Amino acid sequence: MTDIQAPAVRTNQTDPAVAAPAQIKMTARDVNVFYGANHAIKDVSIDVDMENVTAFIGPSGCGKSTFLRTLNRMNDTISIAKVTGDITLDGEDIYSSDMDVVQLRARVGMVFQKPNPFPKSIYENVAYGPRIHGLAPARRDMDQIVESALRRAGLWEEVKDRLSDSGTALSGGQQQRLCIARAIAVDPEVILMDEPCSALDPIATAKIEELIHALRGKYAIVIVTHNMQQAARVSQKTAFFHLGHLVEYGETSEIFTNPRQERTKDYITGRYG
Ligand SMILES: Nc1ncnc2c1ncn2[C@@H]1O[C@H](COP(=O)(O)OP(=O)(O)OP(=O)(O)O)[C@@H](O)[C@H]1O
Ligand SMILES: [Mg+2]
Repeated sequence: MTDIQAPAVRTNQTDPAVAAPAQIKMTARDVNVFYGANHAIKDVSIDVDMENVTAFIGPSGCGKSTFLRTLNRMNDTISIAKVTGDITLDGEDIYSSDMDVVQLRARVGMVFQKPNPFPKSIYENVAYGPRIHGLAPARRDMDQIVESALRRAGLWEEVKDRLSDSGTALSGGQQQRLCIARAIAVDPEVILMDEPCSALDPIATAKIEELIHALRGKYAIVIVTHNMQQAARVSQKTAFFHLGHLVEYGETSEIFTNPRQERTKDYITGRYG
């Protein structure tokens, strides 16, 4: 009998530098965004997967935030914005008239550049979403949801004795983790983060980065960042945008060490930005 050895399985999930095999969560095909006459996103096609953190990088004004907002229809809130093309979540067209936008934004949550807790208690900040979505029929269920979301956001130990204090009384980094807890509380599938650390100091930034690492695989995560080191630290896939185009998309390690496009190389080596 031959001695059959178990195949060497690499568990990429634990190594932040290695991309895991992809299970596609969202797709964008030939997406264009116009603000009046300004053609801000040009024929962008991309797949976002479940297992990896995807970073969007590129110079200011290249369309990162605009494209990110197409993924949960936040551009609907901008009256002059017009989006064309196809975007799907689990194969479902998110721009179809059947799509309930409130449900969509619970499934595809968003964390913004500036922490924006509601002027309510820490508890209420997290409970708000589950309540409007009817996720917790009893107070006890809600207590559990709130605790679990705060734990997953790495904030529980710091706030468990002051849940009735105002969310706005927390430090900036704590507020941002509260906003992440708020997004997590409705059990999203995708979390979009638009420069979530740009208002934070290095220690608070490191905490958010650790959190992103811990959340990897539980949610599909897309993060916009100006900080190239951050993209390299937290993501396994990187998309480089320039002047509304998606110039290059691939494994983060490839994009940073062996970019195929001259424009990507110029950007990551700091030639412009
Ligand atoms: N709400 C808006 N109304 C009109 N035009 C907008 C709006 N938001 C963005 N734009 C325009 O769309 C283009 C892309 O902007 P966007 O904010 O997406 O860039 P970005 O890559 O996120 O930049 P930054 O790194 O500075 O945040 C720019 O020309 C910008 O002026
Ligand atoms: Mg932006």
